[in-house]
Amino acid sequence: MVVALVAAGCGAPPNSSNSDLVNGKKLFIGKATCGSCHTLQHAGTKGTQGPNLDAAFVNSRQSGFGDSVIAGVVRDQIAHPRRGSIMPGGLVKGKDARDVAAYVGSVAGKPGKDTGLLASVGTTNNASKVAAEKAGKLTIPADPTGALAYVFGKATATAGKVTFAMPNQAPIQHDIAIKGPVNGKGPIVGTGGTSTFTATLKPGTYTFFCTVPGHEQAGMKGTLTVK
Ligand code: HEC
Repeated sequence: MVVALVAAGCGAPPNSSNSDLVNGKKLFIGKATCGSCHTLQHAGTKGTQGPNLDAAFVNSRQSGFGDSVIAGVVRDQIAHPRRGSIMPGGLVKGKDARDVAAYVGSVAGKPGKDTGLLASVGTTNNASKVAAEKAGKLTIPADPTGALAYVFGKATATAGKVTFAMPNQAPIQHDIAIKGPVNGKGPIVGTGGTSTFTATLKPGTYTFFCTVPGHEQAGMKGTLTVK
C-alpha cells in the first residue's frame, strides 16, 4: 500500500465532508458493483474476486493515514486499475467516483457498523416477508434499491410443477436459483429483466439464492418450504 499512498499524493484527495456518503455506499453495493468483488464490513459485502478492503487499509489506518488519504487511493484505483486487472477502469466517474471513494475512505479498516441514514442503505427488512406460490407460480423480486437481497426472506409452495419468476428492478444483475431436494436456476438478468425457470418440486426445505458471485454470501437468499 505504501506505493499507492505516495502516488495518491499527486492528486488532491477528495474531501469527505463534501461527498455524499449515502450515494457512495449505494453505488459501492449496487450499480458500481464494487461489493461483488470486494469484502467491506460496513457495506455488508462479501465479494472475494478482489482484495478485502478492510484488510487492505487497516495498516494505513494504524499508521495514521486519515479518511481522505485512503479515499484518494481508492479514487486512483477506480480511475486507473493495474493494466490487465480484472477490476474494470472507470466503473464510476466524476462526483459518483468521489462519493464511492469517500465512503470507502470513511469505513475501510474501521471496526463497527454504519449508523443513521447510512445504516439503512443496503439492508432490507425482509426476514418476515413470505412469498406464497399461487397456481404454480412463485414470484420473488430482487430488492429494487440495489441491496443484495430479495424482497422476500421466505417462500412457500405446494409440491409439483412451479414456475419461479424474479423480476429485477435493481441497478445490478441478479438471478434466482434453488438448492435442496431439487435444484434449479434461471438466467442472470439486468435491470428490467425477469429471471425465470420451472422445477418439479418435492416436499422439503430449500434455499433460494442469487448465483452472481458474492450475492448469496452477502445475504441474497431465503428459505423455501414445500409441502
Ligand atoms: C470484477 C471485480 C472487481 C470489481 C467490480 C471492483 N474491483 Fe477493486 N479490485 C479487484 C481486484 C482483482 C483488485 C486487485 C488489484 C489488481 O488486480 O490490480 C482490486 C483492487 C482494488 C483496490 C486496491 C486494494 C489494495 O489492496 O490496494 C481498491 C481500493 C479497489 N479495488 C476498490 C474498488 C472499488 C471502489 C470498486 C467499485 C467502483 C471496485 N474496486 C470494483 C477487483 C474488482
